[in-house]
Amino acid sequence: MHKLSQYVLSLVLMIGVSLLLLSWSPANALAAPVIPNPNELAQAVQEIESLDAMRSGLASSLEGSTEVPTMQTMKEVCRPIGMRAIQLSQENGWQVKQIAKKYRNPDHAPGNLHDQIALAKFNQDPELIGFWDRETLDKQTGTRYYRRINVEASCLACHGLKDRRPQFVKDGYPQDLAYNFQVGDLRGMYAVFIPDDIQKAIQKAVN
Ligand code: HEC
Repeated sequence: MHKLSQYVLSLVLMIGVSLLLLSWSPANALAAPVIPNPNELAQAVQEIESLDAMRSGLASSLEGSTEVPTMQTMKEVCRPIGMRAIQLSQENGWQVKQIAKKYRNPDHAPGNLHDQIALAKFNQDPELIGFWDRETLDKQTGTRYYRRINVEASCLACHGLKDRRPQFVKDGYPQDLAYNFQVGDLRGMYAVFIPDDIQKAIQKAVN
């Protein structure tokens, strides 16, 4: 099986098993129902895989094309990913972000200490594809899922040598730091915060 699909499968299984154990232990028998919802975590993992595949697909279609890329096709690689992230947040009540130490769009700069620690973890361990953590964001408890983003050959057209960046990048991102990458480098990560749905949990406990 492909390494990545193996990873996703094992992650989803791990989420399921650990949450089942949590809910079945005698100490928890009378406690609150399972938070977070394993289906929701599995859904977040899948959505991020699709998002990442969408970027790789867009970048490699640009690379494979025999036509000289126009301004418009050039712009259609990473911006749609940011827009889809916003859409995923709205649809699911999550906070979906792309975070990078060397960022192009300043909205993607690391924010809190959790962001920095997660990036450092990915940096130290090139084999680490993803993990999750219990966190509190804006006074809400929840689960945060992290997934690494690596540099592929097709990314270098825009994230390679500084002088080779397309004009629209030079013009549009004066604070750009996202260049001089090499294939295999850590480019950044996705972070999905899934708040615990307290209302749903209370409802379940009452019934
Ligand atoms: C055609 C040019 C182009 C290509 C090819 C490209 N990118 Fe980007 N990338 C950009 C632009 C422009 C942005 C800023 C988008 C925005 O404003 O949100 C960006 C932003 C990003 C971000 C968000 C963090 C940040 O720095 O703002 C990540 C992560 C990223 N790119 C990864 C990749 C990866 C991985 C590939 C290859 C699979 C790739 N990019 C290929 C142009 C490109």
